[in-house]
Amino acid sequence: MHPNVNSLFAHPKSELPKIKSNNARTVVVTGGSSGIGLATVEKFASEGYGKVFALARNVNRPELVDLVKKYPNIHPFALDVTSSEEAIQEAIKSFGKIDIFINNAGSGLIGTAESFSIEQIRNLYEVNYFGPIKLIQAILPGMRAAKEGAILNVSSCVSLAPDLLQSPYSGSKAALEHFLAQINFDLYKYAQNIAEPLNIRIANINPGFVSTNFKAPVGSKQIGKEGGYSFIEANIARWNDSLHKGQSPADSANLLFELAHQEKCNFWNSADPRVLDGNAKKIYHDPTGNQYSHGVSMAKYQHLLDDKNNSEVLSVQNEKTAPSLM
Ligand SMILES: NC(=O)c1ccc[n+]([C@@H]2O[C@H](COP(=O)([O-])OP(=O)(O)OC[C@H]3O[C@@H](n4cnc5c(N)ncnc54)[C@H](OP(=O)(O)O)[C@@H]3O)[C@@H](O)[C@H]2O)c1
Repeated sequence: MHPNVNSLFAHPKSELPKIKSNNARTVVVTGGSSGIGLATVEKFASEGYGKVFALARNVNRPELVDLVKKYPNIHPFALDVTSSEEAIQEAIKSFGKIDIFINNAGSGLIGTAESFSIEQIRNLYEVNYFGPIKLIQAILPGMRAAKEGAILNVSSCVSLAPDLLQSPYSGSKAALEHFLAQINFDLYKYAQNIAEPLNIRIANINPGFVSTNFKAPVGSKQIGKEGGYSFIEANIARWNDSLHKGQSPADSANLLFELAHQEKCNFWNSADPRVLDGNAKKIYHDPTGNQYSHGVSMAKYQHLLDDKNNSEVLSVQNEKTAPSLM
């Protein structure tokens, strides 16, 4: 029997009580106008949350406008996550106390590593990495002051296991996940030094394909067949096809809702059972086969080395050279 690595991260003074769904609670969802974000906004609004802020650049999309007619507790708010730190701080301040922040807005890119201009990759990171960091920096002080809250992140299964043609996208998702994993551990230490329990939970979902409007522009340098990558066109077509055959956005929304209400939640959560059968299982999966683990933190690494029962945990964590899914 192997110990559950997640237990290493249980906040010491926290019982992580259920976050109650009630009309005094505020949820902020980025990318709340479409796909997973829109489904998440609908889920929290339909469950009676007091204020559900749906953020996007364009909040006039008909799907969101229609939802607002149905649920007056939805508040559309125009914000580009790549805005300045000052603009993001101001927006966050205007929402009052935030109980749940769902980082969902994201962009894609598809192609071979050599086909992207650095500007394309930088722009992707502005949306998928720097934007969320600006939001989290604006939100975390309020959650620490309130000693409660949840930050839930919509990542992707390709941050855990490589697919084809996703190098900047998967990197941007993995970078944010690890930024959050580190915050999780920093808060664990922080909680040891304050008098009251700290009930801030941080979790990450890793969907597979989801049927949404998600777009992935191709590399601007157009290195394809002529560059020796004969599989590029077929795989861009496969990617588009798989997206349309993907899960319902409601599946991810339901998982996010569930995580917000669990007494304890894992950090990594597959949103697609098919992913659990793939390479992700070998990389970040708990050796029991039942759940993602938190991975090994350096601060706990020595304990794991000292405990011979954990040798298999470590060997699972080190299997980072998994072959392609294809
Ligand atoms: N669909 C999939 O198969 C899949 C799989 C795994 C992970 N994901 C992740 O799921 C998340 C949601 O994607 P989705 O599939 O639901 O796509 P979607 O239908 O295209 O929705 C994307 C949302 O993000 C918003 N957005 C994009 N850029 C933004 C920016 N700069 N500032 C503010 N909002 C921005 C969009 O609104 P505006 O354009 O109006 O700003 C829209 O509301 C993304 O993080 C994506 O990486 C998707």
